[in-house]
Amino acid sequence: MNSLLKFITCGSVDDGKSTLIGHMLYDAKLIFADQERALELDSRVGSAGGDIDYSLLLDGLMAEREQGITIDVAYRYFTTEKRSFIVADTPGHEEYTRNMAVGASFADLAVILVDASQGVLVQTKRHSRICSLMGIRDFVIAVNKMDLTDYSEDVFASIKGELEKFFGEIDCRSLQVIPVSATKGDNITEGSTNMDWYEGPSLLAYLEDVDVSRDLDEEKQPFILPVQRVSRPDRTYRGFQGQIESGVLHTGDEVTALPSGQKACVEGIISAGKHTDEAVKGEPVSVLLDREIDISRGNVICSGQMVRTGNGFTADILWMDEQRLIPGRNYILKVGTSQITAAVVKIRHRVDINSGEHVDAETLSKNEIGSCEISCTDRIPYTVFRDNRAMGSLILIDVVSHMTSACGVIRGVPSEGENLTWHNMDVTRRTRAMSLGQMPKTIWFTGLSGSGKSTLANEIEKRMAAAGKHTMLLDGDNVRMGLNRNLGFSEEDRVENIRRIAEVSRLMNDAGLIVLTSFISPFEADRQRAREIIGSDFIEIYVSTPLEECEKRDVKGLYKKARAGEIPQFTGISSPYEIPSSPEITVDTSGMTLKEAADYVISMLEKL
Ligand code: ADX
Repeated sequence: MNSLLKFITCGSVDDGKSTLIGHMLYDAKLIFADQERALELDSRVGSAGGDIDYSLLLDGLMAEREQGITIDVAYRYFTTEKRSFIVADTPGHEEYTRNMAVGASFADLAVILVDASQGVLVQTKRHSRICSLMGIRDFVIAVNKMDLTDYSEDVFASIKGELEKFFGEIDCRSLQVIPVSATKGDNITEGSTNMDWYEGPSLLAYLEDVDVSRDLDEEKQPFILPVQRVSRPDRTYRGFQGQIESGVLHTGDEVTALPSGQKACVEGIISAGKHTDEAVKGEPVSVLLDREIDISRGNVICSGQMVRTGNGFTADILWMDEQRLIPGRNYILKVGTSQITAAVVKIRHRVDINSGEHVDAETLSKNEIGSCEISCTDRIPYTVFRDNRAMGSLILIDVVSHMTSACGVIRGVPSEGENLTWHNMDVTRRTRAMSLGQMPKTIWFTGLSGSGKSTLANEIEKRMAAAGKHTMLLDGDNVRMGLNRNLGFSEEDRVENIRRIAEVSRLMNDAGLIVLTSFISPFEADRQRAREIIGSDFIEIYVSTPLEECEKRDVKGLYKKARAGEIPQFTGISSPYEIPSSPEITVDTSGMTLKEAADYVISMLEKL
């Protein structure tokens, strides 16, 4: 057997992880190589055949690399007579969770270190849960530093018992617990004379033999090809490129494109630059179809029913961002090759790392795992993770910082919303707009309290109404007394406040109206989201009057109260205001009369 085993090692700082790997490599006189060599091997032993398959780098979470974020995962390659190995070694420092998730997304098996003198720690459980979340089903626990416990069978038995109970609760297929001493070399590559009571294999012997294949008959699996690129060398030819994630494709097969649902037959398959009649899972291919159908990057070409399409699903996610998760806020969601705006609309529960208990949660903080409902702005193809690892895992990327905020796996369809269908109406937005004789739009004023948003919006609405326009003004204080009566000023509530206003504005635009809104809307991500909800008819006006001037005006006396500590989370004082990065119009009302400011805004609006 010269198959390839991809595994990850996880341990806390002093568990002796490097010693263990070092010892294994040294003892077996194994070759050490850099990542490039590892990849070369992976493609040779793996299924891509021949050339280096760089897509391995982009696999799953490796997509982070595309964004230029450095991840500290060292890939080491070694080989024995029986098997070749790639080990992802993740450092134990502060960012370990992120690194571990990346490493785990690539691995088939995890070797988790436990310090025999310390027993099972919270870290051990955290590492195991993260690996499980990222799809690892086969675990080896190396109970290290057995020499420090005088090779005690009792100590080992009690740790093993605890581990078996814990792994009984998580989704795990095989578990092997091995007593070792990395410094002394017990049970690393050879059996130990110090622990005659242990009858199992050494760590390396176990890794050489363990079977992690899913025993799937690819012939019987549905075919899945997430489309990475559409190549169009000339008018007559359209090739859909990507890596086959499941099943086998033959020329002549009928396939379906998702989300469009259109069908076509396979006319040609190009693999490694040559025409072929068949291609299998793992192969990067270019597929030619017998007729023109709707397919673009992010779509899936498939057979069978495994790939679903929908605009939402439930997922288990690992939150990796310093900033906590705010339900309702927009992120970029990546699933397979598709990329779309999405939000976590609801957190169903958080998983207690230690006990596995489901705990009610409003948010997730860094390194926490939770089950949530995700809603996308459009329908995308996906599978549940159980069915396919590539199409069933996701990452969420922050729209502003472009950092990966979370990774996770898709579990199923959400409880609500699955039975909803969008109805196309006969009287359209265009018809309604035409009957009012105007172009609907949303003019979104943002700025500090007291900056002059409401006064200015009111003046502009007055002038528009006088000119015969049909308008509606939505104002923070007013809307908060009605529709948004249940919302306060926490970050979550402000996000929801702005989301509702954006939806209402869109409905009013659909009705043909010109909407003016006056909300502090302090967060850039939420204004961007409003822009996405409303679409191209969104105009952002930043009322940039400085804080000192707003505070001097203090029309409602709120700044005084905020300074006295009587109003918590007051924007500009104890809660942040993020300056808009690219508003259509900026106006500072400090040195201007109302008339001047309104004249200026109107003149700018006319120029847009
Ligand atoms: S937003 O941040 O969610 O956009 P919004 O514009 O609806 O705020 O409401 C702001 C108005 O609420 C302010 O003009 C002020 O009158 C009032 N207010 C009461 N408490 C606060 C607070 N903590 N921060 C900001 N505004 C507050």
